[in-house]
Amino acid sequence: MKLTGNTILITGGTSGIGQALAHQFHQRGNTVLIAGRRQQELDRITAAHPGMHGIAVDLTDPAAITAFATRVRTDFPQLNVLMNNAGIMVEEDLSAGISAFAVAQRTIQTNITSVLQLTAELMPTLLAQDSATILATTSGLAFVPRANFPAYCGSKAFLHSWLQSLRQQLRGTQVQVLELAPPYVQTELTGAHQATDPNAMPLADYIAEVMQLLAVPEPPRGEVLVERVKVLRDAERKGEYEKVFGFLNQD
Ligand SMILES: NC(=O)c1ccc[n+]([C@@H]2O[C@H](COP(=O)([O-])OP(=O)(O)OC[C@H]3O[C@@H](n4cnc5c(N)ncnc54)[C@H](OP(=O)(O)O)[C@@H]3O)[C@@H](O)[C@H]2O)c1
Repeated sequence: MKLTGNTILITGGTSGIGQALAHQFHQRGNTVLIAGRRQQELDRITAAHPGMHGIAVDLTDPAAITAFATRVRTDFPQLNVLMNNAGIMVEEDLSAGISAFAVAQRTIQTNITSVLQLTAELMPTLLAQDSATILATTSGLAFVPRANFPAYCGSKAFLHSWLQSLRQQLRGTQVQVLELAPPYVQTELTGAHQATDPNAMPLADYIAEVMQLLAVPEPPRGEVLVERVKVLRDAERKGEYEKVFGFLNQD
């Protein structure tokens, strides 16, 4: 995708990967709109980045997504990049029975249903532009699951498959479809400990590599893969699936 001259909506722009991407694209002179639930964070980040916009939305609320999309279409009719990046990653003990189900439901709504709804809501706007990009953030865990996060890993595997269908359906249009599949990165996705976990990739290193990969006009299969995630992405193809699955699921 082109790295300048875009109008970009980044969900999950209030922290972690989304916030870092927003900063990078803002620095390059793009019009950047970030979304998340925390108004205070939206205010803090936009104040630090003059010209950046923030709109609060709770992606677990379908009516709120509709109202949000209406506002985006009205205020940013030139929107040409949608980054579906927001997500949650919560442990589930499936042996607990129905008490664990609420986490799965929330995960599916946040990580899957909201992505499909927001993409559908904004599709006419994106199709109307000279060039456009739809990106969704999946995960290396789409390819080899960590068993204590079943709905999370399943949600990312769903997106991986869905993005392939979306790409195929839009192949005759000017809309590019990209999959951002991060490895384990230092953010607060699973809690504060993750942001300093030495086993996780430093966020700045991840974003620097991603910005280089995004500049490639046609990434192979539309997948934006840093080196560190390839052990997961390629496990099955290389006949290393059992080994990698075992490594991820030692606990
Ligand atoms: N970090 C990793 O190791 C890693 C690895 C693979 C994939 N990923 C993926 O990368 C994406 C970004 O995660 P991150 O690591 O940057 O974690 P993060 O810092 O926790 O960011 C998650 C973002 O999602 C937003 N969000 C969560 N629930 C929401 C809701 N109901 N409505 C609106 N926004 C919501 C949060 O904003 P508010 O709290 O303000 O609502 C926040 O901005 C996720 O899709 C995640 O699955 C991360």
